Amino acid sequence: MNALVADGVVTGYGKQEIVHGISLAAEAGKITCIFGPNGCGKSTLLKAVAGALPVWNGDVTLGSEKISNLPVHEVVRQGLVLMPQGGGVFPRLSVMENLRMGGYAIADRRLVETRIESLIDQYPSLARRRKNTAGSLSGGEQAMLALARALVSEPRFILLDEPSAGLSPAMVIETLERIKVLTARGIGILMVEQNIREAMPIADRLYILAAGEKRFEGTPGDVRDDRQLMDIYMGGAS
Ligand SMILES: Nc1ncnc2c1ncn2[C@@H]1O[C@H](COP(=O)(O)OP(=O)(O)OP(=O)(O)O)[C@@H](O)[C@H]1O
Ligand SMILES: [Mg+2]
Repeated sequence: MNALVADGVVTGYGKQEIVHGISLAAEAGKITCIFGPNGCGKSTLLKAVAGALPVWNGDVTLGSEKISNLPVHEVVRQGLVLMPQGGGVFPRLSVMENLRMGGYAIADRRLVETRIESLIDQYPSLARRRKNTAGSLSGGEQAMLALARALVSEPRFILLDEPSAGLSPAMVIETLERIKVLTARGIGILMVEQNIREAMPIADRLYILAAGEKRFEGTPGDVRDDRQLMDIYMGGAS
């Protein structure tokens, strides 16, 4: 099956275990959302899946390949890329320079330039500002840049850590719509979101974490109402 699967992933920082054996699966061409309270380990889990943190126990597989504990550039070559929380764009670098960073794992620089040219055409407001510094872009444009940069490596799966954080309500919707469009190309999305109400309608599957553990998994249709959602958040039974 063409899926990204975490099986019993345990990870943390130093000696501190943060993620206590979480299993989840994200399918190609689908949006899988992760919700959960602040500090529950959502970003830590994404980083471990993306190879940015060691997996202490358990496995991560992409398709038929085991990718846990591969170096990040190898994970990128396998077709998985992480857009970190805050977007990770370099404010003092230009739009083009930021996009080139997205191709760092690709040795063929000409190929990177070709890909950027075809990508940037899909994002006209970036194309118009290619020489401007990323820091001079609006919040929505920076979110667009972070997403476009993640696409330079032509990933099969993208991990997005709060792609709509800090945006105006209208820009939240626009950003999530832009993400939804990617699934039509078969790209699988595994996304942490705090804007639950806006993310629910585009989610195919969702997971709720609390205190480093999985508390709920299902489809948006399985969530009866906000009260049930709150109960799960507060540590109640699913
Ligand atoms: N680099 C780090 N070193 C040590 N501890 C960390 C580090 N990053 C995060 N932590 C701790 O790990 C725990 C989980 O953090 P994490 O960032 O994964 O949470 P989160 O669910 O993504 O939260 P948020 O919703 O605020 O983004 C927290 O207790 C946090 O303090
Ligand atoms: Mg986080």
